[in-house]
Amino acid sequence: MSSVAKRRSLAVLSCVIAVPALVLGVSSASSGWAQKPAAQPSGAEAHDVSLAVHCGTAALDRAETPPELGAAYEAMFQEATQAGYRVLHSGGRAVDAVQAAIVVMEDNPLCNAGRGAVFNEDGENQLDASIMDGSDLDVGAVAGVENVKNPIKAARLVMDKSPHVLIAGEGADDFAARNGIEMVTQDYYWTPERWDSLLEAKKNAASVSGEEHGTVGAIAVDSHGDLAAATSTGGLTNKMVGRVGDSPIAGAGTYADSQFVAVSGTGTGEAFIRANAAREVAVQMEHRGLDVTRAAQAAIDRVARVGGEGALIALDHDGEFTVPRIGTAKYAWVTNSGDVETRFYRN
Ligand code: GLY
Repeated sequence: MSSVAKRRSLAVLSCVIAVPALVLGVSSASSGWAQKPAAQPSGAEAHDVSLAVHCGTAALDRAETPPELGAAYEAMFQEATQAGYRVLHSGGRAVDAVQAAIVVMEDNPLCNAGRGAVFNEDGENQLDASIMDGSDLDVGAVAGVENVKNPIKAARLVMDKSPHVLIAGEGADDFAARNGIEMVTQDYYWTPERWDSLLEAKKNAASVSGEEHGTVGAIAVDSHGDLAAATSTGGLTNKMVGRVGDSPIAGAGTYADSQFVAVSGTGTGEAFIRANAAREVAVQMEHRGLDVTRAAQAAIDRVARVGGEGALIALDHDGEFTVPRIGTAKYAWVTNSGDVETRFYRN
């Protein structure tokens, strides 16, 4: 189906479902953001970790997951962690390693980023991404891009080639195109799964999905002891046009400071912004002297406090890795010696 045809059918569907929603007085603001259960305390997930990635919340049910889908997740996590590990193993920088890992996941339609980005209320894709270099606290981010194949590359471009840290919308797409970043039409992002999710969201009274299932993130420590973090997302299904979440906001969805920690978040972006969640991990380490596990737990508790849900992956410069979460998450890590572990089933 062409983009125009898709949008036309979506417009018809929106009209059909808007009327009962109005009659019932239901709005996304009042129905989509229910208080979530508090985060469960978690311990350190692993030691001697050099790079870790996540592909969002909502880990899979083992019994209900077709073997080929499980194999696809396993292959994607293996490929993403190894792409990052190759950079680190050859003496490369953490910031290059996280970018390499994110590109793999942006190219995979399993994740809500790049190719598999979710649709907004108008049936379009608007993508957000950020990258942060913990060695000098430099940041690059883009928000609401519509034609960049790999938003993380555009974010890196903003960091390296502009005087700014965040560029949004058409300006970001134009900046990327002018600098030779690969561009695509919106049809590139179209997948039947994401389209069905949009139609489902349009049918429900809670028209904005309070969850997202596939924001991607990567964190790494390199041989110089420097940390970096990166996050990329399509945001929330059926989000308002122009809505921006936490992923491109340094301190909310992404943070890295080589003295303390690298963090990438996934979940309800509005709550991560209100909790300043990613920066909160570093604050707890710097000002309260907590280790990374307890600091990250404190940050996710803050997300729960404002009614959000989701998870963080966090890594300190000693390779201590933790994943505090409200609900479940899909993630993987690679150790200094190159061993990869994946976690994407919830049972
Ligand atoms: N955490 C991704 C978003 O809310 O956009």
